Amino acid sequence: MKQMGISSFSGKCIWIIGASSGIGEACAKLFIQQNARVALSSRRIDRLNAIANKAKPNQALVVPLDVTKDEQFAIAYEQIINTWGEIDLLLFVSGVYAPLRADNFDIDIARQTIEANLLGPMKAVALVLPKMLKAQKGHIAIVGSVAGYSGLPKALAYGPSKAAIINFCETLHYDLLPKGIGVHMISPGFVATEATAQNDFEMPALISAEEAASEILKGIQEGEFDIHFPKRFSRFLKFLRILPYPLYFWIVRRFVKI
Ligand SMILES: NC(=O)c1ccc[n+]([C@@H]2O[C@H](COP(=O)([O-])OP(=O)(O)OC[C@H]3O[C@@H](n4cnc5c(N)ncnc54)[C@H](OP(=O)(O)O)[C@@H]3O)[C@@H](O)[C@H]2O)c1
Repeated sequence: MKQMGISSFSGKCIWIIGASSGIGEACAKLFIQQNARVALSSRRIDRLNAIANKAKPNQALVVPLDVTKDEQFAIAYEQIINTWGEIDLLLFVSGVYAPLRADNFDIDIARQTIEANLLGPMKAVALVLPKMLKAQKGHIAIVGSVAGYSGLPKALAYGPSKAAIINFCETLHYDLLPKGIGVHMISPGFVATEATAQNDFEMPALISAEEAASEILKGIQEGEFDIHFPKRFSRFLKFLRILPYPLYFWIVRRFVKI
């Protein structure tokens, strides 16, 4: 049994968490172009307002929140439901990355990363599930990363947070497929955004945030569970993770500046 996609986004109610920059902003703009209604969340209100101001009247709602603050989450969701009555798609894009290795491992940064990248999506899912389960419809899409496929250098907290997202989406999929709710696990490779601007190495197969957004919308439209891109990079990483560890570590050490 394959899950259904969203054949047209026109008129659909979409809550985008992490809409103020990068991949989330590009998705928000594309959804607006395709006549969806969007609720835009993150902390930087001015950036969210700038996106909303380009939408048609009543097409965009600005619902600021910090994903690490439970009460802000609940208030934001209530505001959306009071306005729209329901949501068709939760798209959780928000995420943080701090390069961490064994010689600078910092438990506070690790905690913040898990809080934002893993507990954030879990909180959002916990909020939207009761209504979606009752209605037996809806879609949940979460942005993880190919960095969650298997251990990579300088990702001592980011990697585990994204690996957990893969497991979370897989496990959600078992429960929600029979209930008519779509789950979309999104695993981008390198995308040019504020987050990757800090990287001091040449990023292989780098794509723009707009290209990432169009892959995401297409994947959701087609009902894909595993949305990964760009394929020339994500398929290579999928192949690496099935190799025996000695070979995997050897290849990563050869290609990545450690
Ligand atoms: N760029 C890549 O190469 C790449 C690759 C794989 C996966 N990803 C994933 O893609 C997602 C988007 O990343 P990006 O590259 O587009 O980065 P970005 O431009 O830095 O965007 C990050 C977004 O997350 C929001 N955010 C961060 N902390 C938040 C918090 N505590 N509460 C609410 N919102 C918060 C930011 O909004 P505010 O600052 O306004 O709150 C912003 O909208 C992340 O999950 C990232 O891990 C990115």
